[in-house]
Amino acid sequence: MQEAAHFIQSQTSLRPTTAVVLGSGLGAFAGALSNPLRIPYPAIPDFPVSTAIGHAGELLIGTLAGTLTDVIVMSGRFHLYEGYTARQVASGIRLFRELGVRRVVLTNAAGGINPQYATGALVLISDHINLQGANPLLGPDDGSGPRFPDMTEAYAPGLRAIARATASELGISLHEGVYAAVLGPSYETPAEIRYLKTIGADLVGMSTVAETIAANHLGIEVLAISCVTNLAAGLGAEKLDAAEVLEVGRRVSGTFLRLLSALLPKLR
Ligand code: HPA
Repeated sequence: MQEAAHFIQSQTSLRPTTAVVLGSGLGAFAGALSNPLRIPYPAIPDFPVSTAIGHAGELLIGTLAGTLTDVIVMSGRFHLYEGYTARQVASGIRLFRELGVRRVVLTNAAGGINPQYATGALVLISDHINLQGANPLLGPDDGSGPRFPDMTEAYAPGLRAIARATASELGISLHEGVYAAVLGPSYETPAEIRYLKTIGADLVGMSTVAETIAANHLGIEVLAISCVTNLAAGLGAEKLDAAEVLEVGRRVSGTFLRLLSALLPKLR
């Protein structure tokens, strides 16, 4: 990712230490940056190309409007279900490391399993269960971090405390829960959701975990926030529909934007 980092740094004098990855339907946050540098993924050396709906596929570097906080934003991410390897899914994280990023805020759309979560709820991820059968660190040890990284505090407790405090200041309700990552792209069956509930999952989704593992490996702190775009299979009256998932993401994106805009300047 060295070449990619040089390519990007040759185009801006900004050197953000915080990065944000936007999930399905949450792309509106990109509008909170004033005059950002925008680089489409295909222009970035060694970067995969995103194919998922709701994912624009560009990197933005800019200053959060009304603040002095510089951020780098991935609008659109890579998923295992698109056929990428877990290492490719974590490309953005490896690029962030090369760019000097110290902490990353991962956002995603997820199905709610915990009965306390209504559609549209925002949930801070406190821990995860990786059921994707993949890991970005698979393969020969490249020496960029520990071979067997500790994952006890994969989602940085300090960053979570700041997120909770910010949400509370803004009067935004923020739950906290365990995210189960599945491969997709088919949604779960009701039996699979009962299983996930039994093993301790509050949320289910198809992203975030490979990025979190790679970030922990490289010493980048992780904060992750899910938007509950639907009740998980069998828990609601409706069938699951990807268009509905995007729509709910967009509906909540105003609240999400307020939370992120207040939160990012506090992260340092
Ligand atoms: N399951 C898996 N991934 C998801 C869901 C879901 O119900 N909703 C949004 N992403």
